[in-house]
Amino acid sequence: MDKFWSPLVSRLQPYVPGEQPRDQHYIKLNTNENPYPPSPQVITAINRHVDAGLRLYPDPQALSLCEVIAGATGVGVRNVFVGNGSDEVLALAFMAFFSGAEQVNFPDITYSFYPVYCGLFGVKANTIPLEDDFSLDLRRYNGLPGGIIFPNPNAPTGRETGLQAIEALLAENPDTLVIIDEAYVDFGAKSALSLVGRYPNLLVIQTFSKSRSLAGMRVGFAIGDKGLIEALNRVKDSFNSYPLDRLAQSAATAAMQDGIYFNNIRRKIIETRTQTVEGLEGLGFEVVPSQANFVFVRHPQHDAGELYEKLRSAGILVRYFNKPRIDQYLRITIGTDDEMQQLLQRLPVLLAD
Ligand SMILES: Cc1ncc(COP(=O)(O)O)c(C=O)c1O
Repeated sequence: MDKFWSPLVSRLQPYVPGEQPRDQHYIKLNTNENPYPPSPQVITAINRHVDAGLRLYPDPQALSLCEVIAGATGVGVRNVFVGNGSDEVLALAFMAFFSGAEQVNFPDITYSFYPVYCGLFGVKANTIPLEDDFSLDLRRYNGLPGGIIFPNPNAPTGRETGLQAIEALLAENPDTLVIIDEAYVDFGAKSALSLVGRYPNLLVIQTFSKSRSLAGMRVGFAIGDKGLIEALNRVKDSFNSYPLDRLAQSAATAAMQDGIYFNNIRRKIIETRTQTVEGLEGLGFEVVPSQANFVFVRHPQHDAGELYEKLRSAGILVRYFNKPRIDQYLRITIGTDDEMQQLLQRLPVLLAD
């Protein structure tokens, strides 16, 4: 601890992102990035904006991008908020809606940034165990004080929670704000966006990082009731008025407009996931049903930590969480067909070792 640190900073337990190795010799299946490049239209849009205009600040509201997102998701432009990655949107949402709350309720196994935000904003994290099969029983959240947040599909399990259960939660708890983090929703799960108009207690957060191959540009967005969006703008404008730079705004706008490319690559990833699951099951792995661009797996005869190390030495990076209930699992991002073939070819050797 440094003598200049505030008590808050001394107490923080920051998020630890997945490794981004500098050398290129790894097959990188550890941070749920998209293995395919962004749409060619995105590259054209960025290039078009690499000019003297960069001396000017970007549009603080990113209005063109918000309009395109509103059009694509069937909501009004005042129902859309954009931020510097969905991590920033999540942080602003915690600040806008949960700081000062009695507690925030989320699953025991979930995105590990949520407890970090609780620490940052001084609110109690109330974790509720997932079922034994890692499904999320939302009835356990009825009547709890404070807000609710969970990803759908969940991370790092990949399991989807059905819309009926989500709607029941929203209807039974009209005074509770429910945030659904849909970072992976485009890989096969049903989005709760269709419920936004009917439930002012719902905020849906999505990202351009996964299904639109733009993790490097840092763009995320929230969709919800106008009052919720206004609150997010109030927090943003009390912190950083220009979270999205000019290139990010034009890149994300072009990505949202190229629906054909988007549908092609997400379909491709879903196909590769199906083949990967078959291959892994053939090698004796148990695979949690996934609607995401990753699979969560364990091998009954092999220690996950050791397997992680062996894969790493063999040039394949996956994610291992040394945490209660999941320390015998590995999270494997779905890469290209070729990358997954290499994984499936190297695994038998490592398992026999
Ligand atoms: C569940 C979940 N939510 C949000 C994010 C953040 O995504 P980004 O900040 O790149 O939009 C991630 C990233 O891995 C995630 O797994």
